[in-house]
Amino acid sequence: MDPVTDFEKKHKVESEPWGYSEKGVETLRHSWVRQQISKRVLDGGPVLDIGCSKGLLTAHLLCLRNKIYAIDLSPTAVRMTYQNLSSQFAGLNQDQLKLGSALSIPFPDQFFSALVMADGPQGWELTPLQKVQAMEEAYRVLRPGGIVVVTDFLQRRNFDEYSSLLAKGPLKVEVNSYLPDRLWFQLESNFKGLKKYSWFRAFLKSESWAQIISSISGLQGRRGAKHIAMILRKPETTNH
Ligand SMILES: C[S@@+](CC[C@H](N)C(=O)[O-])C[C@H]1O[C@@H](n2cnc3c(N)ncnc32)[C@H](O)[C@@H]1O
Repeated sequence: MDPVTDFEKKHKVESEPWGYSEKGVETLRHSWVRQQISKRVLDGGPVLDIGCSKGLLTAHLLCLRNKIYAIDLSPTAVRMTYQNLSSQFAGLNQDQLKLGSALSIPFPDQFFSALVMADGPQGWELTPLQKVQAMEEAYRVLRPGGIVVVTDFLQRRNFDEYSSLLAKGPLKVEVNSYLPDRLWFQLESNFKGLKKYSWFRAFLKSESWAQIISSISGLQGRRGAKHIAMILRKPETTNH
């Protein structure tokens, strides 16, 4: 199945294919992404959320003062993002949300100060070559000095291979880190039988519990991580 059909099917069949709104640890990941933009995009320029799904992370970004755009491969995802967010964010314009791929971003050269690739090149099921192509396309639409914020759900043993692959593109790796979330995902998986109880679902959804569990997971360093978290930057002076 081609990726457009595959992701469109996922969005049509399930109201929330990855269930992120039910997972406190995913809310923490979204907050981490928002903080990176807030702290690193000092020109206040436009930001593109690539692979916006139903707009959960986009909603976090819309709380920033930057103008936020979002794209997704799936027409259903783009439509639902607009439906979900237009009632919350009065100024949101339909042309801020577009159908589009990370491999062919429907915006002109040097348009954005930052791009968000949150679950992300691996989640999009790109081949190794396509992951490098996504970095080249990111370079095209970024202003000099602009950044890409990347998160992806990976086996820890694949972190180095993944970051080396992204580094093959024209962007410079500024941060190569991880999120301390492995223990949370272990608990979710080991006790999945308890999901029939509302108290356990409330526990999984709680950001405060996710924060406590992440603090414990963080004691293990990289071994306590399920997400790689990276920042890549387009150099101020470009010769690419
Ligand atoms: C795992 S979800 C991540 C959602 C959101 N970014 C987050 O972190 O919560 C991946 C989303 O990317 C979309 N997608 C898949 N391949 C894509 C591509 N090549 N370009 C843009 N979006 C893509 C899917 O339709 C899906 O909505």
